[in-house]
Amino acid sequence: MENVTIFNHPLIQHKISLLRDRRTGTNEFRSLIEEIAMLMGYEALRDLPLEDVEVETPIETCMTPMIAGKKLAIVPILRAGLGMVNGILALVPSAKVGHIGLYRDEVTHEPHEYYCKLPTPIEQRTIVVTDPMLATGGSGVSAVDFIKQHGGRNIKFMSIIAAPEGLKRLHEAHPDIQIYVGHLDRCLNENAYICPGLGDAGDRIFGTK
Ligand code: PRP
Ligand code: URA
Repeated sequence: MENVTIFNHPLIQHKISLLRDRRTGTNEFRSLIEEIAMLMGYEALRDLPLEDVEVETPIETCMTPMIAGKKLAIVPILRAGLGMVNGILALVPSAKVGHIGLYRDEVTHEPHEYYCKLPTPIEQRTIVVTDPMLATGGSGVSAVDFIKQHGGRNIKFMSIIAAPEGLKRLHEAHPDIQIYVGHLDRCLNENAYICPGLGDAGDRIFGTK
């Protein structure tokens, strides 16, 4: 699929396996989510624009590349997407952070928005949307809809585990965005949870339930 990257890097695969383990506790789970986000971000940000700036080394003055343009915007989908933010901030500490609050209705599994605050001018920024789980794709599609309604154009979507159904839905709804997935899992179950997945990402990051 064009614009879709599925990672097969051994470090990412290893860390995802640790995440899946039900015995992995909150503290380790949080650290792993952050580390995986950083590893995925390193690849996802390889097309950031550069501009040559003048720098004086101890030897001479030279023109050397630095990241150009408006600062990156990281936009986590609340709650679970928050867990990935620090991993990307470790790569781009000057990034701005927006938030989109969505929760899935437990019966219909459709997303409901409860919060949206994006850094301006959003249309001039590269935007990285984070959510560890892409299940039915409903939350991802809504989040990208909101960002586009606010003027966002250059959008990258990062999720650690995706179901085939969710990946297809997001890609078909927004074929123009770049989608990065750590691992593509088998399917959804009757409760729209990813199989084998890792359970409820928000609960495991925040220690709720
Ligand atoms: C989870 C997850 C995604 C969404 C994925 O969030 O973090 O946002 O479900 O499912 P979908 O692809 O079927 O929309 P949830 O609604 O459980 O909220 P939470 O992060 O606050 O726990
Ligand atoms: N949200 C989660 O946190 N996990 C799933 O498997 C599906 C949606």
